[in-house]
Amino acid sequence: MAGIAIIGYGYWGPNLVRNFSTTAGAEVKWVVDMRPERLEIIKKQYPNIRVTANYDEALNDPAVTAVIVATPVQHHYPLAKKALEHGKHVLIEKPMTQSSAEAEELIAMSKAKGLVLMVDHTFLYTGAVRKMKDLIDSGEIGEIQYFDSTRINLGLFQPDINVLWDLAPHDISILFYLVPGKPVSVSATGISHTPNGLENVAYLTVNYDAQHMAHFSCSWSSPVKIRKMLIGGTKKMIVFDDVEPSEKVKIYDTGYSVKSDEEKRKLLIDYRVGDIYVPKLEQREALAGMAADFISAIEKGTTPVSDWNVGLEVVKVLEAAQESIKSKGKEIAIKF
Ligand SMILES: NC(=O)c1ccc[n+]([C@@H]2O[C@H](COP(=O)([O-])OP(=O)(O)OC[C@H]3O[C@@H](n4cnc5c(N)ncnc54)[C@H](O)[C@@H]3O)[C@@H](O)[C@H]2O)c1
Repeated sequence: MAGIAIIGYGYWGPNLVRNFSTTAGAEVKWVVDMRPERLEIIKKQYPNIRVTANYDEALNDPAVTAVIVATPVQHHYPLAKKALEHGKHVLIEKPMTQSSAEAEELIAMSKAKGLVLMVDHTFLYTGAVRKMKDLIDSGEIGEIQYFDSTRINLGLFQPDINVLWDLAPHDISILFYLVPGKPVSVSATGISHTPNGLENVAYLTVNYDAQHMAHFSCSWSSPVKIRKMLIGGTKKMIVFDDVEPSEKVKIYDTGYSVKSDEEKRKLLIDYRVGDIYVPKLEQREALAGMAADFISAIEKGTTPVSDWNVGLEVVKVLEAAQESIKSKGKEIAIKF
């Protein structure tokens, strides 16, 4: 049985406590938060879980074998590092760290100590994303040509990270999961309307050597909430609308073929507009799947779907995007 300590009981922490409390092989032993009012809430909801504002108290409990870091990103690296130093398996909320150097240091530590290090990119466990993966892997969509994601709403301005670091980890992790190959460069632009200079509207383009590209639009300043992803393939196209209550994924049997008429020096586009179908999706809560994956990695040594590799790749894209924004959209090369 993995004894779990969850650090951070703000907005996301309660979802982790709820899911790990019902995951086979896991027992939530401690919740740590520096705000006493948050600890009061958990004491009422879960009387069997011990609470403290002192992280060391939980780390020094031998019954704790795994730590989950669910604080704002600036605390991820120091808290995760301390947990690994104490010989605990670690699950970190997305984005993994504030820099790839920090992520690489944690990865090296976990490898040296034989401990699990995982990052919660929750979307990889949703029925919608898993269905899209099956469709793409089966060849039904054809070769991917573009991936275009919009994640905008009147969002909570974060005090320590810009809108890309807050929202784009979801889309970037989905991109890496669904689309084969690795990008070679990124370019990004963004604008800040707050004195701290953190961008609240940003656009990111991810370039590949292959015949596809990806684009992300993220904003905390939109009057409407849009969570929409378009994936175009040579055979079919996918629309994933996460705001839709039930029909989240739609497959369009839509496409085109291109011929060129050499004599008339014209391009001839042959359009095909066919049926639309709505696949059935797995209904399990994504976090339950994520929690089970973490426990399986601890118990059986399996590689999690959302492993440290995904965490590091996402941070590398965000880091390069940040550099690009500061250079007014300059193309920045990335290596994986
Ligand atoms: N996977 C997802 O879909 C998803 C969704 C939302 C948030 N998140 C991630 O979860 C993390 C937390 O986000 P949130 O929205 O819950 O933040 P939040 O600010 O609402 O809550 C963070 C909590 O951590 C506590 N805290 C901060 N530093 C601490 C420390 N050093 N020791 C103990 N407690 C500390 C704070 O008091 C607060 O209660 C972030 O990394 C965020 O990106 C993930």
